[in-house]
Amino acid sequence: MNNRLRITATLHCDLLIIGSGGAGLRCAANVLDKRPETRVIALTKNAHPQKSHTSTAQGGLAAVDPGDPEDKTIYHMFDTWKGSDCTADQDVIKKICDSSWEQILWLENRGMHFSRNPKGKLSKRTFGGHTLNFGETSAYRAVFEADRTGKGMMDTCWGESLKRNISFLNQSIGTELLFKAGRCVGCLVFKLKEGEFIRIFSGATVLATGGSGQVFKITTNCRQNTGDGPAVALQAGLPMMDPEAIQFHPTGMIGPGILASETLRSVGGILRNKDMEPFMAHYAPRMKELAPRDLVARAIASEIRKKRGILSSDHKVEHVWIDLRHLPDAVHEQQIPEVSGFFKKFLNLDPKSELCPVHPSSHYQMGGISTNAFGEAQDHLQRRVPGLFAIGECAAASLHGFNRLGTNSLLELITMGKFVGNKVLAYLDHLSKEPTATVDFISFDRFSQYLEARGKNKIGQIRIDMQELMTENVGVFRTEEGLSKTIDALRELKDRADQTALGCKSLRMNQELLQRWELDNLLTVSMAISQAALNRRESRGAHFRDDFPERDDAFNHHTIVIMGSFNKVEIKKREIDMSIFKAKDQHFEKFDFIERAY
Ligand code: FUM
Repeated sequence: MNNRLRITATLHCDLLIIGSGGAGLRCAANVLDKRPETRVIALTKNAHPQKSHTSTAQGGLAAVDPGDPEDKTIYHMFDTWKGSDCTADQDVIKKICDSSWEQILWLENRGMHFSRNPKGKLSKRTFGGHTLNFGETSAYRAVFEADRTGKGMMDTCWGESLKRNISFLNQSIGTELLFKAGRCVGCLVFKLKEGEFIRIFSGATVLATGGSGQVFKITTNCRQNTGDGPAVALQAGLPMMDPEAIQFHPTGMIGPGILASETLRSVGGILRNKDMEPFMAHYAPRMKELAPRDLVARAIASEIRKKRGILSSDHKVEHVWIDLRHLPDAVHEQQIPEVSGFFKKFLNLDPKSELCPVHPSSHYQMGGISTNAFGEAQDHLQRRVPGLFAIGECAAASLHGFNRLGTNSLLELITMGKFVGNKVLAYLDHLSKEPTATVDFISFDRFSQYLEARGKNKIGQIRIDMQELMTENVGVFRTEEGLSKTIDALRELKDRADQTALGCKSLRMNQELLQRWELDNLLTVSMAISQAALNRRESRGAHFRDDFPERDDAFNHHTIVIMGSFNKVEIKKREIDMSIFKAKDQHFEKFDFIERAY
């Protein structure tokens, strides 16, 4: 073992939060509101919590306003169930939709600048798959702050953190969960700036590390979204649920895939192919551009496959157009200023007078660390893992099943942040003594291997090869052949990664060392996604198999992936919670395994 690796400090706290985005900070705020003396430590891999990916969310936050004369919570619940292609858990749907408006008020009362209409009321916009009266017409359900809603939420949650006593550890990564007698008692943490490992013992530990979009070449996700939480959980023997459920946002900007918000379609943007045909009517005759994302992304990818896309001479990739030229200046200036600015800044285009090139871009991981409806982590037999919780994009409770409706992710992170806070408090109340443990750390072996490996491979190149492989074979369309090929290729990439000498062997501020750790996480999550996608021989939501194009009732269950090691992946099943259907209350029949047409 590398003799420079040692523990330089041991910290104790009541609550350790790994990841300081919206979900983590909402959880901390709830805990500290109710028990201000709680000792909370929050980690972020970033230079600052406000750099968390939550800040990049654009379109809005779904919630039924109890004062709305037309909308009802039952419609939101139905849309979420149908949108998920009947694979979300109904106990989670009910819990989150029922408390959605309360969370809007929580944010508003803490200074979030929601956009308002001329009457002074909160403005609302519609998003794909959100409807009134069980699919009759579009619902205006999403509140927003122009097209930078995530930034507003992150600023609000950060403001709340400043009012409370939270110890932030920036540029720090949680490399390994610590357990004693089956109970999570904290985490081993590597501080990137100092190049030091510290041990944090905590009463409760919450994973809130965000998504894994960097698995793909074209993504709306930030550079830091490398699946760290799910990878750390898998390495601890815990399961990942539904990893194959990856959302591709229909409109990533040509090139790297920066998010061009669904708001563009909500305000009337039209998708056109190379012949300028508005093609969405062929794929979703009623809802067209406002169908759920899996359908719209597949429609765009199908147009491209049928040679009706446009080849970008700059980026050498095919795309379709989003046409915003007919929208009034006021819409451009007040509703989509941020996205318009992106088109100007990155593509030198003026959306008021020019067509904008877009193509599907990996956007959101609907699966994640398996939890119950309260965000308590579970093992593969659905038994609670005491002391461990997971929230936000790294977790799967699951609200989204196999296709998330736009604006339901910000809703999920803010509500689940609160719920997990309540559970953490209850857990801490019953904790009898301060957790400690003496355990061997696998992180030291791993970091030694990173530092001492020999070989001329390059981390950056392996990451690019992995992203290209995943984009090509595990993207919008999947086949048995492509998935099997990917699994073999991932094993080779893992071998190459293990034979990569770092150019810089320093422990302090070593970006290469961080990237090496991230690469292991990305490869781990890619393997989980590919194996689960191979196993699911049907099409459901965003998981589309060319060789099995229909949904199949035999797969009416969640996928559970356990990884004994990189080459030893086990797949199991978990039942979908059907509690709304089983309760037999009014409209229960809408919550059966219904047909999904838009
Ligand atoms: O398109 C968007 O503005 C993204 C929203 C979301 O992912 O919920």
